[in-house]
Amino acid sequence: MSVEIVQADALAQLAAATSEAALRELEVALLGKKGAITELTKMIATAPPAERGPLGKAINGAKAAVTQALEARRSALVEGAIAAELADRRFDVTLPGRSPSTGSYHPVSLVQERLEDIFVAMGFRVLDFYEVEDDFHNFEALNIPKNHPARDMQDTFWTTDGLVMRTHTSPGQIRAMRSIAPPFRAVFPGKVFRNEAIDASHEHTFHQLEGLMVDREVSVANLISTLRIMLSQVMEREVTIRLRPGYFPFVEPGFECDMQCLICGGGGCRVCKHSGWVETLGCGLVHPNVLRHAGLNPEEWQAWAFGIGLSRLVMMRYGIDDIRHVMGGDLRFLQQFV
Ligand code: DAH
Repeated sequence: MSVEIVQADALAQLAAATSEAALRELEVALLGKKGAITELTKMIATAPPAERGPLGKAINGAKAAVTQALEARRSALVEGAIAAELADRRFDVTLPGRSPSTGSYHPVSLVQERLEDIFVAMGFRVLDFYEVEDDFHNFEALNIPKNHPARDMQDTFWTTDGLVMRTHTSPGQIRAMRSIAPPFRAVFPGKVFRNEAIDASHEHTFHQLEGLMVDREVSVANLISTLRIMLSQVMEREVTIRLRPGYFPFVEPGFECDMQCLICGGGGCRVCKHSGWVETLGCGLVHPNVLRHAGLNPEEWQAWAFGIGLSRLVMMRYGIDDIRHVMGGDLRFLQQFV
C-alpha cells in the first residue's frame, strides 16, 4: 500500500474521531509499535536501493503529518469540551464549591486534650494504662478487699478468665507509683466500664481522668488549688468549687468536689437537679494502705489524688443539658465541634 494512501486514510480517521478516548485508540493503531504508519517503515528494507531514500523521506513526512493532525484534533476536542461546558447554562461558576467532608473531634476528646495540656503546663506527665485490669490493681491495692461493701459501689464487668474491665482510672495510681520513682505528678485519662442499666444519666462505658501527685509532703490546700485551676482553665472562665466529705476507700480524708452549675449559674436547672451545684469529682489524700500496696513507705511519702468524669465536664463546657447527646453518636450533634 502506498504511503500516500495510508496517510490519507489515517488523516480521515483522525478527522472523524469524536472523543479523546477514540483518539487514544487511533494513536496506538497508527503510531504504536504495530501501527499502520510504523508498519510502512518495513517497506524500506525490501525496496530497490535507489528508492529507499525517497521512500524513507515520504514515510517520515507521513508520520509527521499524522502526529500533527493527531495533536490538532486532540486540542480541538478538549477545547470543544470546555466550550460546551461553559455554554451549558446549568453550570453556574458563582456557586460555592462542595468542600470535602472532614471529620471532627468528639467533644469528650476535645475536653480530654485540653485537660492534658493544662496538666502538662503544671508539670504533670500524661500516662496511659490498661482497660482490662486484675482484681489487685482495680480493687485490692486500692484498699477495697474482697467482700468489702465498697465493691458494690461499682458494678463490675468480669472477663471469663477472672480479669475486670477497669471500673475507674484509679488502678493507674498503683501502676504509676510502682513504675515511677517519687516525687512525681501525673494524670491518666481513659475509658472505664460499669455493669449498669443504661438510662438518661448512665452509660456502661465512659471517660475519666485521674490525677496523682506524690511527694514527701502534699496538702489538701494544694489539691484544692490544682482542682480550681484545672476547672477554670478547662471551662475558660472562673468557676466556684466546694468540697464535701466523701467516702472512697483509697483516700483518707476523702472529698467530693462540686462546682457551681455553669448552665444556670447556680440558680438551679435540669443538669444540676435544681441544686445549683454539680458533683464533679472525687479526691483526697491517698490512704497509707494504698501507698504501701504501691511499694511506698507512708512515713516517707504522701500523695493526693482525684478522679473526674469527662462527660459532665463536656456538658458544662458546651452548655449541653442532656447527657444522651454526648454519647449518642448523632453526627448532626457531633459535627458542631470543629
Ligand atoms: N475512682 C473513683 C470513682 O470512679 C473516683 C475517685 C475518687 C478517684 C477519689 C480518686 C479519688 O482518685 O481520690 O468513682
